Amino acid sequence: MSQAVDEIKIGGLGASRKRVEDDRFIRGKGNYTDDIVLPGMLHMEILRSPLPHARIRSIDTSRAWQIPGVHLVLTGEMMASRNLAWMPTLSYDTQAVLATDKVRFQGQEVACVIADDPYIAKDACEAIEVDYEPLPPIVNPYQALAEGAPLIRDDKENQPDNVIYDWEVGDAAGTDRAFAQADLVSKLELHYPRSHPSPIECCGSIADFNRATSKLTVYMTTQAPHIIRAAVAMVAELPEHMIRIISPDIGGGFGNKVPVYPGYVCSILASILLERPVKWIEDKSGNLISTGFARDVYLKGEMALRKDGKILAVRMHTDADHGAFFSDAQPSKFKIGLMHSAFAAYDIPVAHLTARGVYTNKAPGGVAYRCSFRVTEAMFFQERMVQAAASDLGMDQAAFRRMNFVRDDDFPHRTPFGFLTDSGQYAKCLDVGLRAIGYDDFRKRQEEARSRGRLLGLGISTMTEPLGAGNSREYDILGIKMFDSAELKVHMTGKAIVRTGARTQGQGHETTWAQIVAHELGIPAEDVVVEEGDTDTAPFGMGTYASRSTPVAGAAVAMVARKIRAKARKLAAHLLEVSEEDVDWELGRFYVRSAPDRGVTIQECAMAAYSNMPDGMEPGLENTAYYDPPNLTWPFAVYIVTVEVDPQTGVWDVLNMVAVDDCGVRINPMIVEGQIMGGLTEAYAMANMQFITFDADGNCVGSNYMDYLLPSAWETPGFELHSEVVTPCPHHPIGAKGIGECAAVGGPAAFVNAVIDALSGTGVRNVDMPLLPDRVWEALTYRRDISGAPPVRAD
Ligand code: CDP
Repeated sequence: MSQAVDEIKIGGLGASRKRVEDDRFIRGKGNYTDDIVLPGMLHMEILRSPLPHARIRSIDTSRAWQIPGVHLVLTGEMMASRNLAWMPTLSYDTQAVLATDKVRFQGQEVACVIADDPYIAKDACEAIEVDYEPLPPIVNPYQALAEGAPLIRDDKENQPDNVIYDWEVGDAAGTDRAFAQADLVSKLELHYPRSHPSPIECCGSIADFNRATSKLTVYMTTQAPHIIRAAVAMVAELPEHMIRIISPDIGGGFGNKVPVYPGYVCSILASILLERPVKWIEDKSGNLISTGFARDVYLKGEMALRKDGKILAVRMHTDADHGAFFSDAQPSKFKIGLMHSAFAAYDIPVAHLTARGVYTNKAPGGVAYRCSFRVTEAMFFQERMVQAAASDLGMDQAAFRRMNFVRDDDFPHRTPFGFLTDSGQYAKCLDVGLRAIGYDDFRKRQEEARSRGRLLGLGISTMTEPLGAGNSREYDILGIKMFDSAELKVHMTGKAIVRTGARTQGQGHETTWAQIVAHELGIPAEDVVVEEGDTDTAPFGMGTYASRSTPVAGAAVAMVARKIRAKARKLAAHLLEVSEEDVDWELGRFYVRSAPDRGVTIQECAMAAYSNMPDGMEPGLENTAYYDPPNLTWPFAVYIVTVEVDPQTGVWDVLNMVAVDDCGVRINPMIVEGQIMGGLTEAYAMANMQFITFDADGNCVGSNYMDYLLPSAWETPGFELHSEVVTPCPHHPIGAKGIGECAAVGGPAAFVNAVIDALSGTGVRNVDMPLLPDRVWEALTYRRDISGAPPVRAD
């Protein structure tokens, strides 16, 4: 009889183990960057530009230097003398560290003061006098592209206009041919507005340069410590082995903590110059106006349709507003990230996408806010376009989707833009969702309500997202191939430590990586400690964003555990005095095949690795695995929302929402549910209330939480989650697919589709997010689309 350990009892795969990290978080014992106090530490504050576009005539820092307690005032000129006024970005552009010639967005970094405390530093910033010559600001791509538009990046040679790139993918000629065959062409145009990840913890760093050892240690809020180490080595020309990046607890990242920010660079230079630790902690407005914006794309497209409902082809164009510097991270082959993952779940023969990126006088944008490099925009457009096409055909929304889905037996499937999807049960997920929402019944109620002047609507959104970049053949950031690694050390008593190059920011890696080890080795999860975020101890990794941790770092954890198991098998054979071939494995234990009662536990093998190894065997039980995924993982989800719109006010309320997520094997079902709940909450916020925009004068409107709204539990509707569809990933060692972003990616279209559905019969095809009551009311009252909404005026 099997003597295997019980996987759920030891917290293995499928156990809803409570998050171990929460013990310290809920006790207020987390260790965030701002919690760290080093002896002799100074504080840095940044002076930001009040203007979005202006030439700098002069900067006078003399009054700031005179304030007692000020140690250093840094300006662009001083940075330039050290060749540090500009830094390379993660997208092969350059970004001003401190402005020298011009300021190019409101909130841009102009000078820094380093002082005994942050209050002195702030006062001294205010004592700096900057003489600006205002220039006309550009706040959207159409202004940027207009004839005679002011040139924003006149610092760059060979930059005649404000265009960053013109990029295309797909088959233009084939798409034209398919459109020529169409019975009907459905069109849609929309704007996915700028949004901000707004993690609760802002960005910050503490640079500590030790002249005696020449070692630079930087504690910082980064989702990708190893990339930062490489960037610091290259920008500051410091030897990489003398740089240690430590990413302590992070209070949410959501993509905001991937880019390299000027504040990091200035704190490092200040510490080198002053030979003292220098702390920079951004305030909320600084974070909201200057760091890591997302989205801000104008999308238009059309779908070629046969009258029976078959989709023949899709054409898409996007104009992306990147702000003043193209600084978001994305695989270098793909200028607009993975936007071309659009329509991956639909069986569409041919498609063509053109993308144009432009500079504007806004803070750098385009970060992958809880998404895999522009997938959110892609899925949003996809599901809005699908709804519009079904309406134009007069077809049922669900039936149109089901008819065009890739079928379960069509995998592997080549998407119209060339990705290879490998698994999924799309129609089944849809059916589960429709049943849960009571689709047919709701449609009847909707008709009935309409006859009484009440506007009910139902929105469906589906998404399949390419999660887990690499493989390294296709995915790199600045030429660094995208893979990940894990190191596992099993101590002699059978306890273990696992380290990865990923960095959790709240996703629960400390809990789930231990569960993978438990699944592979039978060591109880509570006996495994997980450590991430220190480049001196963690093996190399590309960091955590794009929900790549489970697909890549999580896979590396499984693979390294398998290496450990292979060595443990040799130890077991030695202990059992049989040959390795005669040894079998069951969870937590090796046994003699012919005599199953004779066995040794993994813990006994661990002890033997240090005390009784066979002759010639290298002692110890530890290893490292680098994992280069053969493909992305492709989770799938269906989100369905019902709403009621008040025709008098445009206010809409969610009646019900169901989510059916298939992320393959769930390591920790409870954590997965938490990820989905969080993602849906963000989706609801984007659809309903989040408005961070720029007025015509280039002022950032929404730079505080009175204007840029984060939903609390009070506003957030309830979500009904379904987990019955599980399609394991065929190439991931434990069959898992990513989940962290799915609901934030796929959710927004469900809300918007529901509101547009409620307005059906009025001719309204689109209202841009956020669906603020005044926009919905205007669309309903004047029976017109609200698309590409202009920026609001300052007054
Ligand atoms: O890269 P990131 O951690 O943001 O996203 P993820 O890989 O999708 O994982 C988010 C959290 O969900 C992690 O704690 C994962 O281990 C967990 N997860 C899971 O339990 N089962 C899955 N199939 C996918 C993720």
